Amino acid sequence: MSLRLGDIAPDFNAHTTAGDINFYEYLGTGWGVLFSHPADYTPVCTTELGKTASLQHEFEKRNVKVLALSVDPLDKHKGWVNDINETQKVNVGFPIIADEDKSIANAYGMIHPNASETFTVRSLFIIGPDKKVKLMITYPASTGRNFVEVLRVIDSLQLTANYSVATPADWKEGEDVIVVPAVSTEDAIKKFPKGVNVVKPYLRYTPQPNK
Ligand code: BEZ
Repeated sequence: MSLRLGDIAPDFNAHTTAGDINFYEYLGTGWGVLFSHPADYTPVCTTELGKTASLQHEFEKRNVKVLALSVDPLDKHKGWVNDINETQKVNVGFPIIADEDKSIANAYGMIHPNASETFTVRSLFIIGPDKKVKLMITYPASTGRNFVEVLRVIDSLQLTANYSVATPADWKEGEDVIVVPAVSTEDAIKKFPKGVNVVKPYLRYTPQPNK
């Protein structure tokens, strides 16, 4: 059965461009983003890994470790990283997993046989400090993902984890957030000293608590 939200993310050992790693040890007590791409030396993937490298400090600020994965071999990854660095004006600092036997891709359901028998699709998982899957997205090979959106989801997840708030549609950093249904309005007024705007008993906003 394929992975679902709330499931424990499978642990694994892997050969990567940063050496051999154990996934859980690599994540430590922080958050993780594990994402697959179809193949090395392909144009969309080159831009995706470049964009992720350019946002490395944003992931670090949020205590998030990033790992990329394809089923290509390690020497191919290493050569391709030089091209990414050159063309995208970055320095790829996160590990790229060489999943030649597809064991990790299969554990995470990254191969969708009706899209490609051999290559991973663009899967992305956000994994929490509890090692549970918090977000899963799947994009086709022809569409590069939006990694600023991935950061926005991480911000939302971390707000939920730390302050019991949710984020509304199209929420951006600094905008009001939503009091989760599990918190009563009476408790919300005590918990959120910046104020609670009760639009409906089930629709209550408060200023972003960590701003
Ligand atoms: C790409 O990364 O550009 C790509 C990879 C596989 C199929 C189509 C595009």
